[in-house]
Amino acid sequence: MRDAQPRTIFLKEYRPPDYLIEHTDLHFDLFDEYTIVTAQLTYRLSESGEVNAPMVLHGSELELEYLAINGIELEESRFAIRDEMLQISDVPERGRIESRVRIKPQDNTSLEGLYRSRGLFCTQCEAEGFRKITWFPDRPDVMSVYRVTIDASANDCPELLSNGNLVHQQELPDGRHRAVWEDPFPKPSYLFALVAGTLSRVEDEFVTMSGRRVRLVILVEEKDLDKCAHAMDSLKRSMKWDEERFGREYDLDVFHIVAVDDFNMGAMENKSLNVFNTSCVLASPETTTDQGYQRVEAVVAHEYFHNWSGNRVTCRDWFQLSLKEGFTVFRDAEFSSDMGSRALKRVEDAGIMRTMQFAEDAGPMAHPIRPDSFIEISNFYTLTVYEKGAEVVRMYHTLLGEEIFRKGSDLYFDRHDGQAVTCDDFVSAMEDASGMDFSHFKLWYSQAGTPELTVKDHWDESAHTYALEFEQHTPPTPGQASKQPLLIPLAMGLLGAEGNLPLNLGVGGEARVSDDQLEAVLMIDQESQRFEFEGVSERPIPSLLRGFSAPIRIEHAYSRDELAALASRDADGFVRWDAMQQLLVSVLDELQATAAEDQGQSRSQRDNPWTLDVNLAGAFTLVAEDRSQDPAIRAETLRLPSESYLTELASHRGGAHPHAIRESRNALRTALASALSATWETLYAEHQVSDLYAATGEQIGRRSLANLSLAYFSAAHEQGVDLAIEQYRRADNLSNRLAALRIVLHEGSDEQAADLLNDFYERFGGEALALNHWFQVQAERTRGDPISRVQALMEHPAYDAANPNKIRALVGGFANLNTAGFHREDGAGYRLLGAVIEELNERNPQIASRLLTPLTRWRFYPVLGEVMRAELDRLAALPSLSRDVYEVVNKSLAG
Ligand code: TRP
Ligand code: ZN
Repeated sequence: MRDAQPRTIFLKEYRPPDYLIEHTDLHFDLFDEYTIVTAQLTYRLSESGEVNAPMVLHGSELELEYLAINGIELEESRFAIRDEMLQISDVPERGRIESRVRIKPQDNTSLEGLYRSRGLFCTQCEAEGFRKITWFPDRPDVMSVYRVTIDASANDCPELLSNGNLVHQQELPDGRHRAVWEDPFPKPSYLFALVAGTLSRVEDEFVTMSGRRVRLVILVEEKDLDKCAHAMDSLKRSMKWDEERFGREYDLDVFHIVAVDDFNMGAMENKSLNVFNTSCVLASPETTTDQGYQRVEAVVAHEYFHNWSGNRVTCRDWFQLSLKEGFTVFRDAEFSSDMGSRALKRVEDAGIMRTMQFAEDAGPMAHPIRPDSFIEISNFYTLTVYEKGAEVVRMYHTLLGEEIFRKGSDLYFDRHDGQAVTCDDFVSAMEDASGMDFSHFKLWYSQAGTPELTVKDHWDESAHTYALEFEQHTPPTPGQASKQPLLIPLAMGLLGAEGNLPLNLGVGGEARVSDDQLEAVLMIDQESQRFEFEGVSERPIPSLLRGFSAPIRIEHAYSRDELAALASRDADGFVRWDAMQQLLVSVLDELQATAAEDQGQSRSQRDNPWTLDVNLAGAFTLVAEDRSQDPAIRAETLRLPSESYLTELASHRGGAHPHAIRESRNALRTALASALSATWETLYAEHQVSDLYAATGEQIGRRSLANLSLAYFSAAHEQGVDLAIEQYRRADNLSNRLAALRIVLHEGSDEQAADLLNDFYERFGGEALALNHWFQVQAERTRGDPISRVQALMEHPAYDAANPNKIRALVGGFANLNTAGFHREDGAGYRLLGAVIEELNERNPQIASRLLTPLTRWRFYPVLGEVMRAELDRLAALPSLSRDVYEVVNKSLAG
């Protein structure tokens, strides 16, 4: 796999390139047994380049057949190949390098570079896949204009696509044909794309704000032609939205989206030739869930938005990845908010941050949004870079307001159009547009870890003042033992008996108060700080971190009745949701404490009559019956915190016991199910959708609340299972069908479960994407013996150990969602995952490394941690680890 010990790359070692490639001319000869790639690179010394510096080209697994400069073939003594780099000494200051290599796309299982997916030739070059195609300075600060010639069999590959415009087509001898593409925009190699094969097209048109007609083409397998409408509609709405919200217009005459089955991530923003995982393009009511529809919309938008935030303005080096990803995730989140419900989107994103990104920040791979070193860059396409990066961009928006933020983004795009830049350049644009000084704020780029803000309050009854005292602290992360205080914009309000109180700020730090005086953003920038409010004549309940205004943990000793009040009455949607989560967590803690006490007692003492907390029952009833609120938000508020979130919280507070978490959560579920049983039944009936399926916010919200209600109801009543079976049978959409199936797998008999699973398989045997859900629900199921079930499914004819979507559904579903099976005390769950990773280490290192995530958390588990660690030790000792797996395994074991 590799020649030597993997090397660490450091940001501080960045040097601009000595040579620029002004023009890149590629010729592909595609055959079934091999592909020949001929490259002609027109280069010149860069402004900062050192005269006589060696020319450095990257390449990996290339069979070099020919290498020449200015038409003269190079003797072997003139160049050296080492560590995936080819160095040529004594090159002229400008000239043309020509190379010819032979590659084998059909044997490329890594899904990086040029590979085949169900016969289709396609590419994935980000981050460093282009070097698996040809010798090239494969770094994003080398931007070049491409001309691409593709020759292939006309029969097997009627479609020949690359970036930019089609400039020439011709028939060739031997049943072959040719297409030539030119992309006028200089681009880094990671944005190169080629697709060749048999595909069917859906076409549409978009007229841009300046009147340019753009042809929109989605290319899929013929059987999927009826599943493209939602992606096309999402694309058109994205194009319109980017013009209106960001003033960004599309810049070519054609935009392609190609769907491929085997893809390591969601999608890729290659200039005018986006390549997508089928799971992020195709949508039909029968085969796609509501969440699936929302994901298609978000990913289509995300990749489209990259045309400006990523392609027109790109990254200087991979340490700056969040420059394009954080910004683009912010942009797609704003798009989704404008298309649907802002409060709901915020709650969902805060949930992802707190469950998954906080866990990453607390684990061995913790890194700042701009990492300062890496071994394998693919390991840094993380929740931190993407989601926390987007939260950092959102904080500028909160600090500056929409209008000035927009001025900053306009300035950034204008100033850096056509350049490869850094996060510092983004900050400078925001500073120059606003006149603000972001030097303190910039610590968010270099400091890893989740800041914790502890809040104490004090109400002075006679002076009518109310004070909030903040202490901030960020725990150490690998390589960063001590942390500095950050600038945290804390949006807040004060809840009184009759609603939110007007805010009159007295002494304290800097703050911005809204026009209606009901909300303030406090600028917290010191280790400890105090803000005082005047004219407060009743004791208020603080409503903190409104809208999740910063990616931090916040700690305040609320009483349960305060939480219940916030959950049912606060003005902010995020705070209402969060208050209910805190209330649920507090009750779950109590349940776990009681269970632990019971352990030491005799049976008769044990039926300790635990009663459901009145505050929780009351708040649940209020929210459930508050018909003025959006059903989608009500569903999120009434949903129990996930086991993953509870695990993250518990480990933060000293250690997680997965079985105790699961048992207490199940107990609370049953208690809420019986206590509100009539409510669940009514909600279920009230939120049925009778209209034809549509993925509208309204319908999605109704289904979400109905299905949550049915799940609760079934936890207390056997009839629930019958209702679920009936819903399964009459469902006209995958959300309802799958929700019903999950209930039956959880609460029904083995026979009922087997019946529906067979039915599902027969219905969707030929629909790969729907079938992924079939694998996943079985992987998640805790009943029976999940380990043998997963092992048997890995042998199922419909399973495909080379397809990332299948691996994520079955193995990922098991390791991340089936806590009972994965954390089996004898370690069988860990060994199952380890065996899959071992096999994937060679086949597909990116996926192998991603699957490792649950094992990297071994330190979260005081009891099982050592057993998890044993599996990591075993992997660490394997003879030929890929760089990807090597980095994650070794960092997890270190320290
Ligand atoms: N730039 C892509 C995105 O965010 C990410 C991506 C797609 C990727 N495929 C990849 C990253 C493969 C690493 C490897 O949309
Ligand atoms: Zn992206």
